[in-house]
Amino acid sequence: MSQYLRKNIAALAAYVPGEQPRDGGYVKLNTNENPYPPSPRVLTAVRKATNLSLRLYPEPTADTLRTLAASTYGVEVENILAGNGSDELLSMLIRCLVGPGDPVVYPVPTYSLYDTLIAIQDGEKVEIPFGADFSLPAEIFSHRAPLTFVCNPNSPSGTLVSLQEIERLARAVSGILVVDEAYIDFADVEGCSAIPLIQSFSNIVVLRSFSKSFSLAGMRIGLAFAAREIIAGMIKVKDSYNVTRLSLVAAAAALQDIPWMKRNVRRIQRSRHRLTRGLKKLGFQIYPAQANFVMARMPARTLRGLYEELKRRKILVRYFATPGLEDSLRISVGTDEEIKILLREIEEIEGRPVAGGREEEARSKEGQAAMDEHIDTDTP
Ligand SMILES: Cc1ncc(COP(=O)(O)O)c(C=O)c1O
Repeated sequence: MSQYLRKNIAALAAYVPGEQPRDGGYVKLNTNENPYPPSPRVLTAVRKATNLSLRLYPEPTADTLRTLAASTYGVEVENILAGNGSDELLSMLIRCLVGPGDPVVYPVPTYSLYDTLIAIQDGEKVEIPFGADFSLPAEIFSHRAPLTFVCNPNSPSGTLVSLQEIERLARAVSGILVVDEAYIDFADVEGCSAIPLIQSFSNIVVLRSFSKSFSLAGMRIGLAFAAREIIAGMIKVKDSYNVTRLSLVAAAAALQDIPWMKRNVRRIQRSRHRLTRGLKKLGFQIYPAQANFVMARMPARTLRGLYEELKRRKILVRYFATPGLEDSLRISVGTDEEIKILLREIEEIEGRPVAGGREEEARSKEGQAAMDEHIDTDTP
């Protein structure tokens, strides 16, 4: 490692994004992309914008997109900022709010990019384990920290915390509460977004992504919603022209075709139920999923072997070699055809419909019953 790097960067374990294979032919269920295309309006708008104007810089603060987003989400322009993916907005926030040694609190397991961004700032991560049912842990309400994260729905569990709990947490924390809503459009529950709370809470920041429900992972667009003073701070730390011309055009066109996004979301919700049912039949325990992925567990087993065998068969799912997650796979909801292939291949690999003997089967059913009892929002 170069002697010139800051000590914390030299020691940093880099964030490892999900694989993006160069060759085709994969059933790709590892990075929660949308299996359906973006709105045709997006493609038309991007084609139209692919012209000589590309020699010019984009709008520095993306005001056209912000204006449209303000009317879509019922807030003021000054309450919104666009980012190069919500990842960039996370990075801006941490640079605004966290200095060396500052604690940042969040329930785990969750999106591991938080760890990396905190380490870059030389901040102090304070990880508090979720309850067994993925409810917010009591300890998170009493911590004093400049920044608390809640990923809602959470990755990799797919579980959702109620808006009442988010509100209770916003009241309890001493600093900023960031609610990462990259997957919220896939929740069955209406009105679970924390965006309206920014009107009454000066310490809530809500992050949205166009990568998932709007099928635009390749364009890299996210939005932050917060009190205007926080947005003004974020603008100070951002790159001058942080979102490309084509991305801005794509995002604006996507917002003008919300019915298209909602139709794709409904298809994914239906497929999520099929995937959940199929995996349960194969002996997996499934957390009640409110995102475009499910977390499938086989308690007391490591699923690395299954992940690797699926990969050999050109099916990519996400395996986290993290303590406590070795018995789980995170599986994105693909098309029904992709789900069929996945379930067929797992059944073939496992050699039997249920993963163990009678005892294991009974244990698995018991565990699933306990999960269902906690939060059964998995309605057909
Ligand atoms: C929880 C969570 N937040 C944020 C992001 C980043 O999204 P974007 O593509 O908008 O940067 C992801 C991407 O997978 C995610 O899982």
